[in-house]
Amino acid sequence: MKTITLTVNGTAYQETVAPRLLLVDLIRERLALTGTHVSCTYEGACGACTVLLDGDAVKSCMMLAVQADGHSITTVEGLAVDGQLTPLQQAFKEEHGLQCGFCTPGILMNMTDFLKKNPRPTDAEIRHGLIGNLCRCTGYINIVKAVRAAARAAAAQTGGQ
Ligand code: FES
Ligand code: FES
Repeated sequence: MKTITLTVNGTAYQETVAPRLLLVDLIRERLALTGTHVSCTYEGACGACTVLLDGDAVKSCMMLAVQADGHSITTVEGLAVDGQLTPLQQAFKEEHGLQCGFCTPGILMNMTDFLKKNPRPTDAEIRHGLIGNLCRCTGYINIVKAVRAAARAAAAQTGGQ
């Protein structure tokens, strides 16, 4: 067993974990932050488990909890502040990007990182950015529309485009 300290959504935690415990299981089972989902068999295929590690999107089923020692994690529960949705969350709501909703937390976390690094993406870049997030229910049209709308809203706020 190993004792680790990490910050999740701004709260500091100290947890004693088995070396083989996956980060996604720490988040879901120990911290009860069940917005982070598992949609494949912990094999990095679906992206539903995506969280931010020090601001960068990572698949939390592909990391051990001990690798998060000393780091800062953001899960989907940490996006909205005081009930105020982020522009990306708002755009998903308005553009019907939620669809089944199960894969949505992972997509939101991945696209939060994506838009930070590429605030003015083309549709092709958005689609490429979504390569690690599987939607099995409906398709990507409204998801791409939502990401595009969030980018436009951010650009309008900053006076760009
Ligand atoms: S649970 Fe599917 S990529 Fe992590
Ligand atoms: S929106 Fe979740 S699988 Fe399609």
